[in-house]
Amino acid sequence: MSAPTVEPTTAPAAAPADTAPAPDPRLREGAFGNATALACRECGHQVALGPFYACPECFGPLEVAYDFPAVTREQIEAGPRNIWRYKALLPVPDDIEQSPNTEPGFTRLLEARNLAAELGLDKLWVKDDSTNPTNSFKDRVVACALSAARELDAKVFACPSTGNLANAVAAAGARAGMKTVVFIPSNLEKPKQVNSAVYTDKLVAVDGNYDDVNKLASEIAGEEEGWAFVNVNVRPFYAEGSKTLGYEIAEQLGWRLPDQVVIPVASGSQLTKVRKAFQELVALGLVEDKPVRIFGAQATGCSPVSTAYKAGVDAIRPVKPDTIAKSLAIGNPADGIYVLDICRETGGAVEDISDDEVREGILLLARTEGIFTETAGGTTVGVLKKLVETGQLDTSLETVVINTGMGLKTLDAVADRVGPAATIAPSYSAFVASGIV
Ligand SMILES: Cc1ncc(COP(=O)(O)O)c(C=O)c1O
Ligand SMILES: [Zn+2]
Repeated sequence: MSAPTVEPTTAPAAAPADTAPAPDPRLREGAFGNATALACRECGHQVALGPFYACPECFGPLEVAYDFPAVTREQIEAGPRNIWRYKALLPVPDDIEQSPNTEPGFTRLLEARNLAAELGLDKLWVKDDSTNPTNSFKDRVVACALSAARELDAKVFACPSTGNLANAVAAAGARAGMKTVVFIPSNLEKPKQVNSAVYTDKLVAVDGNYDDVNKLASEIAGEEEGWAFVNVNVRPFYAEGSKTLGYEIAEQLGWRLPDQVVIPVASGSQLTKVRKAFQELVALGLVEDKPVRIFGAQATGCSPVSTAYKAGVDAIRPVKPDTIAKSLAIGNPADGIYVLDICRETGGAVEDISDDEVREGILLLARTEGIFTETAGGTTVGVLKKLVETGQLDTSLETVVINTGMGLKTLDAVADRVGPAATIAPSYSAFVASGIV
C-alpha cells in the first residue's frame, strides 16, 4: 500500500508492551480506536499500526494490541445490534458508524434442542452466522478490514478467497464506493462466483487452488501501490473481526462463557480470535473466568491441522486440497500452529470427516433445526457428531457449534441427496396412491 506507510524497522527492537511505537502522524487521530500497536505473536516485538502483517524481527504474525478503557456490559448493550456494539474492543474509530460500511453480526444464538437430542448432548446452541449481509461470518472480518483500508487510504480493496470472503469484500467494497478486485480459484462453486460478480465487475478467476491464489495476492501486494488485501497486508485488522463471534456468544448466553465450542478451520484465524475474545472478556471483568474447551473442524480432504493434531506433532505439513468443503480448502493454513496449540491447551481437539459425512452434517442440521448450512457448516456439525461418538466431547457440558455460512451457496453438495418423495398427478386419488403419509 502507498500511504500512509510506517516503516516497521523504525520501531525500537523488542519494545515492551507499555511503550507502543508512536503512530504515524499521517493517520487520523483515533483511526484504530483503542489499538496501540501491532505485536508479534512469536517474539512480542511491536510495530506501529499500519499495513503490516509480518514481524520484521522474526517474520511471526502480527496482531493488534490494545489499551482498553473500562468497558461495561451496559455500555455494550446500549450499542447497535451489530458488531459495532463492540467497537471499543476493535481496531476501528469511534465514529465507525458515520461512513458506509456493513453492519454484520448479532446473529442468532439458537438453542438446538432437536440436534442435541439426536446427538445425545445435554445443552447445545448453534451460533448461526448464515444471516449476515452476504450470508457468512466473513462479513465480520471484512467490516474491520474495510475500516482499516479506509484509514490507510487504500486505493483498491481486494482479497484472495475461497469464496465467502470474495462475496463479503465485493459487497462491502461496493457499499463503500471503493474499487474492488476479488481473486478466487476458477473451480469455485458457481453460486459463490455469482455472489461476488453481482457486486463487482472485477472478479478474477485464477487457474489454481486457494494457496496459488493467495500467493498471487501476496505478490501483487508487494509489487503494487495502494492495494489493501484484506487477508494479506491488512490481515491483523481483518482478523480482529472474528472476535465478535466470541463476544456475541458470551453476551447471548447472558454474559457467560460456554464449556465447549466447535469451530471450522481453514486458515485457522477464526478459531484463534474466538479464543482471544473469550480471554479479553475475562480480562475486562465482563465474564467470569472458566475453562473453555475449543475444538477445530476440518474435512479429511483438506485436514493439515487435524492430521498434525492426531500425529501429536507441532509442525503442519501443507496439503493439496481435495474436498467438497471448498470454503475450508486452505492447504497451508497461516494460523494452523496456533489452532493446534489452543485445542491442545484447552483440552479440545481437531477432528476431520469425509465428504459424505460433510453432506450428512448439512442434512442433519437442516432436518433437526431448520438451518440450511453450507459445506463448512456441514463439516462443523459432522465433526461435532464424530466428537460425541468418539467420546472426545463431554456430552454433559454446554456446547456451542458455529455455523459460518449459508447452504444456498453450495446447493450442489446435497442436490443429489434430496428431491421430491413422489411425483404425482394433481388428483386426490393419486395422492392417496402415492402412500406418502
Ligand atoms: C463458511 C466458512 N467457514 C469457515 C471458514 C474458515 O475460516 P478461517 O480461515 O478463519 O479458519 C471459512 C473461510 O473461508 C468460510 O468461508
Ligand atoms: Zn517476532
